[in-house]
Amino acid sequence: MFALLLLLSFVGAASAWTSLEDWGSGNVTASAGDSGQCLCHVYLPNTTFSASRVEHMQQVTKDLILEVNIQIEKIDRYNGKLVVFLSELNNLDIRVRMLESNPDKYVKLDFELLSMELREFEALVTELNETLNGTSPMFDSLNVEIRNMTLSVKRLESYDQGNLDVIRLEFSKLQKKLDDCQKELEDITKPDIGNCNHQGIVSLSKPMAIQLNANLNPSYTYGGWGKDSKPAQGNESMYWYGGYPGPSVHDLNLYSDYNQLILRSSFKLHNIPGGTGNNYIVHGNTMYYQYNSPFSMSKFNLTSSKYDYRVIPNASQRFSYSYSSDQNMDFAADENGLWVIYATEESKGKLVVAKIDVPSFGVENVWSTGAYKRLVGNAFMVCGVMYATRPVPVAPNTEEIFYSYDTKSGQERQLSIPFEKFQQSYYNLHYNPSDQKLYMYNDGYYVSYNVKFN
Ligand SMILES: *[C@@H]1O[C@H](CO)[C@@H](O)[C@H](O)[C@H]1NC(C)=O
Ligand SMILES: *[C@@H]1O[C@H](CO)[C@@H](O)[C@H](O)[C@H]1NC(C)=O
Ligand SMILES: *[C@@H]1O[C@H](CO)[C@@H](O)[C@H](O)[C@H]1NC(C)=O
Ligand SMILES: *[C@@H]1O[C@H](CO)[C@@H](O)[C@H](O)[C@H]1NC(C)=O
Ligand SMILES: *[C@@H]1O[C@H](CO)[C@@H](O)[C@H](O)[C@H]1NC(C)=O
Ligand SMILES: *[C@@H]1O[C@H](CO)[C@@H](O)[C@H](O)[C@H]1NC(C)=O
Ligand SMILES: *[C@@H]1O[C@H](CO)[C@@H](O)[C@H](O)[C@H]1NC(C)=O
Ligand SMILES: *[C@@H]1O[C@H](CO)[C@@H](O)[C@H](O)[C@H]1NC(C)=O
Repeated sequence: MFALLLLLSFVGAASAWTSLEDWGSGNVTASAGDSGQCLCHVYLPNTTFSASRVEHMQQVTKDLILEVNIQIEKIDRYNGKLVVFLSELNNLDIRVRMLESNPDKYVKLDFELLSMELREFEALVTELNETLNGTSPMFDSLNVEIRNMTLSVKRLESYDQGNLDVIRLEFSKLQKKLDDCQKELEDITKPDIGNCNHQGIVSLSKPMAIQLNANLNPSYTYGGWGKDSKPAQGNESMYWYGGYPGPSVHDLNLYSDYNQLILRSSFKLHNIPGGTGNNYIVHGNTMYYQYNSPFSMSKFNLTSSKYDYRVIPNASQRFSYSYSSDQNMDFAADENGLWVIYATEESKGKLVVAKIDVPSFGVENVWSTGAYKRLVGNAFMVCGVMYATRPVPVAPNTEEIFYSYDTKSGQERQLSIPFEKFQQSYYNLHYNPSDQKLYMYNDGYYVSYNVKFN
């Protein structure tokens, strides 16, 4: 048997990717080699890619692979961290119970978590104290309290682990103190819900409550989360979440409170007909979202599971926000009610704000703004003012509120209110007037912001 070797000879310094037919039969020759093996010579034409272009492409490919690997690693890291965090995150009660049932395993971990919580709490107190410029003496007493608690935790840690009764008692005292502290802090910083007697947004807090979505899947980058902006009585603490690997909207989970959301234990999963765009919200126990066919605004009643839609004749499907191509209708709720934000051909792609009359589910009034939709990351309403955001190009994890339009006065303003993102892109950002927070579904992660008004 002869070994068959295929030798490729290149014309000049170039290589090429062409099909066999292009070569021409005269350019393929065969001969016998020194040891009798069959040699096949193929002359490739110098037409398609120059050597330097191939080299360049190889470099680009290498860079891309590197970038993809970095991203994958990053996602893995966050995912790992969050899974660990989620599984460990629990209230103090549960931890005390764990302590009772399995002291050896949990004692160390519990104290570490408690110390960590105290450190975070201390940082929060310091930050709040700074923003209020030390005007509230409450902070100094809170700080003393936290210092004392930290000392107690250290002391407890050194106790004999068999001495569980003492530890339990001290632990529950600490828990109570921490709860009291938290309540005091909430009282100091309690937002003035429903009050629109301010000059608009001045700043946003750092992103809070960062959690991977309830599907525990970082590729579920489309979706949204939040609370009902006009909850039915008894449902004030309910949370909703829907996440998907693509832009279509097809289900929504309901959780009775924040703990259930974090524990991923929903009490209801609704199938949602024909949605897209992911700029949906829940208002008055009803989900408002963009409907596919016909292109319209739709509502899905979470009590009766009935849905209904209204075509907005002038709304255009040609204009979307900058992060994705399906976001044509953006629903918003504020102190004044329900809104939908879109763009039209007449507005030449600039945002149009429409007030929705809830009982008739019709458009009550329309305002034209100066923000070109394709450059906008997202938009939301606060006290009848539309705020538009955009990515900050030089800082991938920073977004800014750059524009506002007041529907009462028609006044528009250029703003620069930066805020941090956890991941670069997002499709759902909305304000909730019931707690004055912004909710963002940040590429698979739950993020929220406190809003500070002037
Ligand atoms: C091959 O192509 C390159 C770039 O297109 C050119 O510079 C070079 O002279 C060519 N060589 C031959 C042998 O035709
Ligand atoms: C070999 O390929 C070159 C470039 O495609 C072509 O010009 C030439 O005619 C071919 N030679 C034969 C013998 O087919
Ligand atoms: C903070 O308070 C001090 C005096 O108590 C004052 O001099 C300073 O200007 C204040 N800073 C801010 C940012 O309000
Ligand atoms: C709060 O701020 C004031 C002045 O800015 C400072 O003197 C005080 O030490 C701070 N207290 C805490 C608990 O950080
Ligand atoms: C903090 O600890 C010190 C020393 O143990 C004690 O004197 C003080 O009363 C404690 N303060 C509070 C607020 O618990
Ligand atoms: C309130 O929430 C409960 C579950 O927590 C749910 O069964 C009920 O339908 C909700 N009520 C209303 C009026 O939405
Ligand atoms: C949702 O359905 C319930 C029960 O049929 C009804 O009482 C409620 O008014 C509906 N809500 C909206 C916003 O249509
Ligand atoms: C809707 O479109 C029609 C026809 O182009 C135009 O006359 C009308 O002013 C538009 N209305 C709004 C509210 O944009």
